Amino acid sequence: MEYYIGLFLLICTRFPLIFSAFTPIDNYLISCGSTESISFEGRLFNPDSPNPPNFSLKTSKASSSAISNPNSNSHLPSPLYQSLRLFTQTASYQFDIHQPGRHWIRLYFYPLPDSNHDLLSAPLTVLTDDFVLMHNFTFKNFNHTFLFKEFSINVTSDLLSLVFVPSNGSVSFINAIEIVSIPDALIDDEAVTIPSASFTGLSGLGLETMYRLNMGGPLITPLNDSLGRYWENDWGYLHVNSSAVKQVSVDPITIKYPSGLTIEIAPAWVYSTAEAMGDPNVTNPDFNITWVFTVDPTFVYLLRMHFCDIVSEALNMLVFNVYVNDNIAIESLDLSSLKGGISIPYYKDIVSNSSNGSSTLTISIGTDNIEDFSNAILNGLEIMKISNEFMALDGTLSVHDILPDSVSGKGVKRVQFIVSLVFGSLAMAIILVVLRYYCLTVRQRKAQNYSNPWLPLPLIGSGTMRTMSSKVSMLSNRSGTASCISLASTNLGQVFTFQEILYATNKFDDTLVLGEGGFGKVYKGILEDGTTIAVKRGNPRSEQGLAEFHTEIQMLSKLRHRHLVSLIGYCNERSEMILVYEYMANGTLRNHLYGSDLKPLSWRQRLEICIGAARGLHYLHTGATRGIIHRDVKTTNILLDQNFVAKVADFGLSKAGPALDENQTHVSTAVKGSFGYLDPEYFRRQQLTEKSDVYSFGVVLLEVLCARPALNPGLPREQVNIAEWAMAWQKKGLLDQIVDPTLSGKISAASLKKYGDTAEKCLADYGSDRPGMGDVLWNLEYALQLEDTSVSLTSRDENSISSIHGTVMEGHFGDNNVNGSYFGGGGGSDMENDAPSSVFSQIVNPKGR
Ligand SMILES: *[C@@H]1O[C@H](CO)[C@@H](O)[C@H](O)[C@H]1NC(C)=O
Ligand SMILES: *[C@@H]1O[C@H](CO)[C@@H](O)[C@H](O)[C@H]1NC(C)=O
Ligand SMILES: *[C@@H]1O[C@H](CO)[C@@H](O)[C@H](O)[C@H]1NC(C)=O
Ligand SMILES: *[C@@H]1O[C@H](CO)[C@@H](O)[C@H](O)[C@H]1NC(C)=O
Ligand SMILES: *[C@@H]1O[C@H](CO)[C@@H](O)[C@H](O)[C@H]1NC(C)=O
Ligand SMILES: *[C@@H]1O[C@H](CO)[C@@H](O)[C@H](O)[C@H]1NC(C)=O
Ligand SMILES: *[C@@H]1O[C@H](CO)[C@@H](O)[C@H](O)[C@H]1NC(C)=O
Ligand SMILES: *[C@@H]1O[C@H](CO)[C@@H](O)[C@H](O)[C@H]1NC(C)=O
Ligand SMILES: *[C@@H]1O[C@H](CO)[C@@H](O)[C@H](O)[C@H]1NC(C)=O
Ligand SMILES: *[C@@H]1O[C@H](CO)[C@@H](O)[C@H](O)[C@H]1NC(C)=O
Ligand SMILES: *[C@@H]1O[C@H](CO)[C@@H](O)[C@H](O)[C@H]1NC(C)=O
Repeated sequence: MEYYIGLFLLICTRFPLIFSAFTPIDNYLISCGSTESISFEGRLFNPDSPNPPNFSLKTSKASSSAISNPNSNSHLPSPLYQSLRLFTQTASYQFDIHQPGRHWIRLYFYPLPDSNHDLLSAPLTVLTDDFVLMHNFTFKNFNHTFLFKEFSINVTSDLLSLVFVPSNGSVSFINAIEIVSIPDALIDDEAVTIPSASFTGLSGLGLETMYRLNMGGPLITPLNDSLGRYWENDWGYLHVNSSAVKQVSVDPITIKYPSGLTIEIAPAWVYSTAEAMGDPNVTNPDFNITWVFTVDPTFVYLLRMHFCDIVSEALNMLVFNVYVNDNIAIESLDLSSLKGGISIPYYKDIVSNSSNGSSTLTISIGTDNIEDFSNAILNGLEIMKISNEFMALDGTLSVHDILPDSVSGKGVKRVQFIVSLVFGSLAMAIILVVLRYYCLTVRQRKAQNYSNPWLPLPLIGSGTMRTMSSKVSMLSNRSGTASCISLASTNLGQVFTFQEILYATNKFDDTLVLGEGGFGKVYKGILEDGTTIAVKRGNPRSEQGLAEFHTEIQMLSKLRHRHLVSLIGYCNERSEMILVYEYMANGTLRNHLYGSDLKPLSWRQRLEICIGAARGLHYLHTGATRGIIHRDVKTTNILLDQNFVAKVADFGLSKAGPALDENQTHVSTAVKGSFGYLDPEYFRRQQLTEKSDVYSFGVVLLEVLCARPALNPGLPREQVNIAEWAMAWQKKGLLDQIVDPTLSGKISAASLKKYGDTAEKCLADYGSDRPGMGDVLWNLEYALQLEDTSVSLTSRDENSISSIHGTVMEGHFGDNNVNGSYFGGGGGSDMENDAPSSVFSQIVNPKGR
């Protein structure tokens, strides 16, 4: 007998996970305006052209066109946003429906840049035969750069039209569409309202998903949901002290679906995690866990709450209350007696308004004072907007009001247009794509001489860059040179829209400023996919700025190296000059040396950082695009990432503009570079060479050793300039007297001597007497090796010396193999504030109008 029960449980628990995935009868996944199929999260989206057999696109002549942008914006969460179809007149997609009933209608919008139309301000109105899905939505006042909408509509006829209505004078567009059958059992016709009454007639109404949360668990994507849904983590909506809640989870395999409740209601991943009370039995018995949502108060919402007792060890141990807007919604909910066991899923549908006509809706769970058991849980929550009396999910106009000449919406179906013209415009689009490809190939062939094939394509004009960078005399006509090069004809990393930049930097919020230089301010930003970036916004006033902008884009996009700060992309919309770089979590090297409260760097860390920076400069001087002079090497232009890997920043800017040191205001236009770091030979010969960078790097080495600024006018005269002062001590062989006090006694004599000698050679009066960066690099690595040897001599036996030695030598010869392990995990000190995933935040748009 027990055997049979065991077998029964096995079937109950395992089958839903493995076998009973629902197969939709209607399953249209369409990537609009695309030329090829796109695979995303395990599903294949087909292009909407050429016309596939089972759905059609109806538009009037030449009013539809395809736009695609396959290379830029790869930070978008889905490749579906890379193309779109644009309509200048009312257009409709028509789908054959093989199985009447509820269908998902999922719409993806992203306003790709288009030279002819301003898609950001295009009002989007989308209808079905019976429902208004969106009305007059524009991206202009919207906080996100892309929009994902999910509706569920009961389709009763055998044809479904999806109609895009541009308002007069403007356009409409769509990036991707899903029309997918939903199992009938998913939405019941009935629900309860608060206070307790019954609400019927749901099956005839349209729903729009506003929030769908997996409490206490990770983002669940369509890969793990048989109905292609996203379930977002709830953390961003929780409205309590973080210590007051506890995330609980169990293995999804232990979830026992009862009969009549399938994984289509919610996958086991949802029921197997929950938010529960952090401190059961101890907290105030009146304590509530509350989630707060922004909603449109003119609509009514269907709330589906998912519960599964995964915390109790025995029956009847968990009894709690559920509140909606402070009104009791479910009283004394005892999951185990309701379902006759634990780990059994249960859900409840409730229809509610927002709170007292305000735009917030709150859901709380709290202990039930009548019982002794003080805990409460919630596993999942869906909030769906219910269509209003106008059969609209947005606004107060019906389909009939918006399209008066359609008879109850069905008229749209009868409109027939000439399909061949649609084909005509598609053929045009294909020709354009082919032409573009051809141009790129030709350009690539031209470029092959000086680029790695995987790098972004270099500019046609880049051959002149090298001479330009090594001749100061070229600077006089630099702006002329740079502005000849059109950005439009080049391929320089991602192109960001101004909207994306605004969103990432919270409208250039001053609290996000990381630094300020001659070019403009640098902001920290977060892209919609969560990538942290540094945004350098040029001051649009100066012509000089524009030249620098072009120079830096050209230069950076050709240079890729572990020890150079990478350019991710740029934005030149609205005459803005914005550069987007990778974000360097640990800021400038100077900050870690002096003038801040940061933990002082160890000698070993400092050597590693100098070696990294030297590698970056060596690459600039000798790498793929040879002969680039940085011209402004200093400790504020050496940045540290989260693992304290050094990267050189700000080349390009230093070329054309006066480099402004934060504290130096007296910048002469004749002199480039920063005082204190300037090559003395430059004054004699008015010419910068690679050896000028070597000199500046020598100053950096001293700054790193002594932890003081290159110039400190507050000191006695002979100490003002670090190069003069430290070299005087070096020549006396007493460099150890002036090292950073936090290092004194912690540097091996041999290592310090090698380091001091290297700095001294860098600071030679004549460029010809200075070593190249390659030599400097080698010497610094040797200094590191000496340090390691001495450490092991004092602490280890002979055998381990040779093994450590071997490791260091390996590090010396491999160029790119410095890794975090050198720092023994010390890089973990910075806490990245991981914003809650914004992948799903697009449906968090309560004001869809
Ligand atoms: C529509 O046609 C495509 C291509 O022939 C096919 O893969 C897809 O299954 C069809 N969809 C429906 C709903 O018939
Ligand atoms: C659409 O929105 C714009 C502003 O966003 C407003 O001026 C216009 O009146 C709206 N049109 C309708 C029909 O609501
Ligand atoms: C946009 O973001 C700001 C600040 O993050 C917020 O105050 C505002 O309500 C948001 N607007 C919308 C429409 O979500
Ligand atoms: C645009 O719409 C308004 C009313 O919504 C109408 O008065 C006007 O004539 C229309 N303009 C054009 C060019 O169709
Ligand atoms: C869809 O609507 C029809 C007609 O109103 C109804 O018979 C059917 O049950 C509904 N289907 C669902 C899944 O609600
Ligand atoms: C999704 O499913 C895979 C296996 O199919 C599993 O390894 C993974 O953890 C699941 N992800 C989530 C978020 O549940
Ligand atoms: C969070 O809870 C702790 C103790 O539970 C309390 O001391 C603290 O003040 C609370 N913080 C906030 C912001 O409510
Ligand atoms: C809470 O109290 C109940 C009854 O006193 C006890 O059985 C249970 O173990 C307690 N739970 C915790 C987490 O302390
Ligand atoms: C919990 O919420 C309910 C409903 O709003 C309220 O009656 C109760 O006082 C709340 N408890 C606390 C501690 O706020
Ligand atoms: C919504 O709120 C209004 C008044 O605030 C009330 O008359 C109406 O019955 C409520 N509807 C639902 C479904 O709760
Ligand atoms: C809700 O509205 C009623 C009547 O309009 C008012 O008496 C009450 O104070 C309101 N409650 C809140 C929390 O605003």
